Amino acid sequence: MSTKDTPSTMRQWTTDQKGIKNIKLEEVKTPSESDLKEGEVLVKITCVSLNYRDTEVCNGTYGHHRSLSQDAKVVPCSDMCGAVIASKSSSLKVGTRVLSTFNQSHLTGQVTAKDLATGTGFPLPGVLTQYRVFPDHALVTAPTHLTNSEASTLPIAFVTAWTSINYFQPLHNPHHSPNTTLLLLGTGGVSIAGVLLGKALGLTTIITSSSDQKLQRAKTLGADHIINYRTTPNWDDKVLELTGDKGADIVFETGGSQTIEKSFNCVAFGGLISAIGYVSGKEESAESKVNVNVLALRRNVTLKGILNGPRDRFQEMIDVAFQEDKGVKPVVDQVFEFEQAREALKYLESGSHFGKVVIKVG
Ligand SMILES: NC(=O)c1ccc[n+]([C@@H]2O[C@H](COP(=O)([O-])OP(=O)(O)OC[C@H]3O[C@@H](n4cnc5c(N)ncnc54)[C@H](OP(=O)(O)O)[C@@H]3O)[C@@H](O)[C@H]2O)c1
Repeated sequence: MSTKDTPSTMRQWTTDQKGIKNIKLEEVKTPSESDLKEGEVLVKITCVSLNYRDTEVCNGTYGHHRSLSQDAKVVPCSDMCGAVIASKSSSLKVGTRVLSTFNQSHLTGQVTAKDLATGTGFPLPGVLTQYRVFPDHALVTAPTHLTNSEASTLPIAFVTAWTSINYFQPLHNPHHSPNTTLLLLGTGGVSIAGVLLGKALGLTTIITSSSDQKLQRAKTLGADHIINYRTTPNWDDKVLELTGDKGADIVFETGGSQTIEKSFNCVAFGGLISAIGYVSGKEESAESKVNVNVLALRRNVTLKGILNGPRDRFQEMIDVAFQEDKGVKPVVDQVFEFEQAREALKYLESGSHFGKVVIKVG
């Protein structure tokens, strides 16, 4: 593995935030070894895993960080697996298989506005490209037993799931046991990561979906209880029933406006709602005019906003859950070719997938 065979030009996708259908494949100069500064490496990207956020960036609706103007051009996507082909780093040697981190400067502790300004794939250039230069602190070494496409799914979906379970907990939390129930909403990337990590940590998992077929698939991955939120619209009651009226200890709130009130209804007294996303809408709860204070105090709940996680928690997750004997294997629903990036993003946007969608680059 070296820069010997690296072509002088490479292909990369860009978006001007005017919709997925308008993303463009362009040819640009490949970064060369001589461009590297101290502490940087050149990576040949093999696989890119898509996140809901990438569709928002391409559609111009990503609202967490607005340091780029509404029509600025950016290379989208944040999650990749690749190989170091040139190095000016003392920690990463040529040939090392690496994964990107999301907010590149977020190495430990509380995330800050400064870290959000280092988000890969907005506002910083992303990874939907054949080669990219990274500072070595923005990479971790990939677990050896995962394929390139499986490994590419770790940076956002799995790290977010990890911090959504463990943010407040010391790692080998004595309170984690089958008596700890984790509620996952829908079968997207973060929820399925939650099923797999929950199983590895010995938790009981409940998952909802609009599809019985997807629920059966979740069961084969180890989900303990399944609920179809279309045919059981009062799924909050069902969660209480399944937990003997206690409620879920941890809720992955990925739903937003259509789910948040129900999540408050079925979280355990003293439980944790990890506020992760809004696949059902960003607006206020359509059904409720209830103040969030009232919702939180009713069952003495902690509502914790989650913004992915720092690099040291990513490494901790790899060390604990991605050792070969733990058997955590990400679920890759579909792999698209590099030229099919538009189709891949559209497929993710449609919500037809189960787990993760990947684009093969190299
Ligand atoms: N805060 C963070 O650090 C962070 C990190 C990652 C993601 N997120 C956010 O978290 C959310 C989920 O991300 P993701 O990557 O898992 O998305 P995703 O893979 O695109 O999730 C899509 C799934 O959401 C489910 N869904 C849609 N409407 C639903 C509803 N009303 N109730 C329950 N489930 C519903 C569907 O599941 P079924 O088809 O099974 O019904 C759909 O397949 C997004 O808003 C994303 O931006 C935040």
